[in-house]
Amino acid sequence: MKILVTGADGQLGRCLQDRLLLTAHDGLALNRNQLDITDRQAVEAAVVGFRPDVIVNAAAYTAVDRAESEPEVVRRVNAEAVGYLAEAANKVGALLVQVSTDYVFDGRTTRPYRESDPVNPLNVYGASKLAGEQYATGANRYVIVRAAWLFSEYGNNFLKSMLKLADGRETIQVVIDQIGTPTYGGDLATSIIRLAEAEAVSGIYHYAGGRACSWFEFSQAIFAGLSKLRPEWRTPRVLPVTATEYPGVATRPAYAVLDDAKLRACLPRVTGDWELAIEAVMPVLTE
Ligand SMILES: NC(=O)c1ccc[n+]([C@@H]2O[C@H](COP(=O)([O-])OP(=O)(O)OC[C@H]3O[C@@H](n4cnc5c(N)ncnc54)[C@H](OP(=O)(O)O)[C@@H]3O)[C@@H](O)[C@H]2O)c1
Repeated sequence: MKILVTGADGQLGRCLQDRLLLTAHDGLALNRNQLDITDRQAVEAAVVGFRPDVIVNAAAYTAVDRAESEPEVVRRVNAEAVGYLAEAANKVGALLVQVSTDYVFDGRTTRPYRESDPVNPLNVYGASKLAGEQYATGANRYVIVRAAWLFSEYGNNFLKSMLKLADGRETIQVVIDQIGTPTYGGDLATSIIRLAEAEAVSGIYHYAGGRACSWFEFSQAIFAGLSKLRPEWRTPRVLPVTATEYPGVATRPAYAVLDDAKLRACLPRVTGDWELAIEAVMPVLTE
């Protein structure tokens, strides 16, 4: 299969590149310099030129707090550009895989979100990603994969931020009242490729990267793993704070757990386990 990946230098883009190398697929991964997805003609030229069977859109504006002050830019990248990818996908009959987020929900619930649950984004980023989902439905063949709390060996993410803080700080404060499912980018990339390979997939799929936890628990798991792996490193004591005590610019959902039953039914052997993934990734990040 020919698979075109956009946003190739991002966290997920890099993970997709790694995982594609393990397959027999003919992958073409284009970073922002090689393909700006907000350039409609460039999108058409790239897609018509390569004629992929699948387009995975891993490009996005992901700075959730900064997004609040530049909604127009965010909308162009996360929403309108997805429409260009859908149009181009239709020209060559490709499946469009659009990656989306738990932030389409408002988090005012207590059970994991199903694909059919009502959406209500709380911030500009979430609203733009929801609009992106709507644009993706313009493709004759599309799949939307929602994920949450991405981390990997690449880019900026919570795991890497915690490891940086492990060098000298006595204590750090981490939010305890936001619950989600950390997701290893490598596992998500594998699932996306498997979905693209599967017959008869369509609509929205939730990907959950393992058991639900708070940012506080996630940080504790990271430091416990670090202490085991590098006992000589001094790890900080983690103090719980509430989201109200530690506010970001953008409002975030308090409960962002995704129910992945539909995905598991479709790909029974694909699972994610963020606890195993941090163990696997940490040696590389602490060399
Ligand atoms: N990170 C998370 O916690 C999280 C959670 C849930 C869902 N997601 C979704 O997962 C997907 C991948 O996220 P990620 O964490 O891999 O994001 P990321 O690391 O920020 O990567 C996004 C990539 O898209 C590129 N990009 C931005 N504007 C572009 C444009 N106009 N044309 C082409 N490329 C452009 C960025 O380039 P520059 O760096 O040059 O801007 C970056 O390389 C996104 O759809 C995101 O919404 C992420």
